[in-house]
Amino acid sequence: MTNIENQQPVVTLTQVAAGYGAALVLDTVSLSVEKGELIGISGRNGSGKSTLIKLILGEIEARQGLVEVLGTPMDTQANRRSVQLNIGYLAQSQRDPSIAISVEESVLLGRWGSNFAWMKRSTGHDRKIAREKLELVGMASLARRDIRTLSGGQRQRVSLARALVRQPKLVLMDEPTTYLDAETKEDLMQSIYSLHAELGITMIVVTHETFSSEFFDRMLFIQDGTLLPMGASS
Ligand SMILES: Nc1ncnc2c1ncn2[C@@H]1O[C@H](COP(=O)(O)OP(=O)(O)OP(=O)(O)O)[C@@H](O)[C@H]1O
Ligand SMILES: [Mg+2]
Repeated sequence: MTNIENQQPVVTLTQVAAGYGAALVLDTVSLSVEKGELIGISGRNGSGKSTLIKLILGEIEARQGLVEVLGTPMDTQANRRSVQLNIGYLAQSQRDPSIAISVEESVLLGRWGSNFAWMKRSTGHDRKIAREKLELVGMASLARRDIRTLSGGQRQRVSLARALVRQPKLVLMDEPTTYLDAETKEDLMQSIYSLHAELGITMIVVTHETFSSEFFDRMLFIQDGTLLPMGASS
């Protein structure tokens, strides 16, 4: 039996407009992402990259047009919530936790969203998956460290593990290589690429790194509120 869901795009944006208050950031953006694709998004500061990611994540709503993720229209709160359970998200900026929390606990939080109460209910299975993801990103040896004592690069790796711990169908990463030195950037990008190849998860990655274009199936560029294939910009 063929699975129809497998043949549908993972993300479909049709003539979408979005912004904040009176300001329109994205205008008539259309995008179709197939299952298993690794997509890179670039563009200047303030061009709307994070806005696009938040739109796909369902953190903000489209003002016009249609956003469909994992076969579900993102037009109701209930739909957005259920889709979010299947998305791994690595945000552009991350705040320090206000209490001491281990690397492993911080990854476990990714299984339920940032609800500390849930952590008490974590099972052996949850912890096993958290450990597996820490292994994948090369951070298993620091599982017991207070997350606040990690370097920027180590934290980015932990964030990547956290984005994967729910076994998501779609991963959105907003500038995962920020704050990293050139070598670590390339290293992390290589890890993302290998994870993608290994797990086959659809991934959309916002990045400013020019070297990284070789890693992506497709590279897109946001300019003047629209999304263009890389190289098509003026
Ligand atoms: N919560 C908000 N309220 C009002 N305006 C916002 C908000 N978030 C973003 N903006 C504005 O929307 C525009 C696009 O912002 P966005 O964060 O999507 O850009 P970006 O491409 O991710 O930039 P960067 O490369 O700096 O991360 C900017 O002009 C920004 O000031
Ligand atoms: Mg941004």
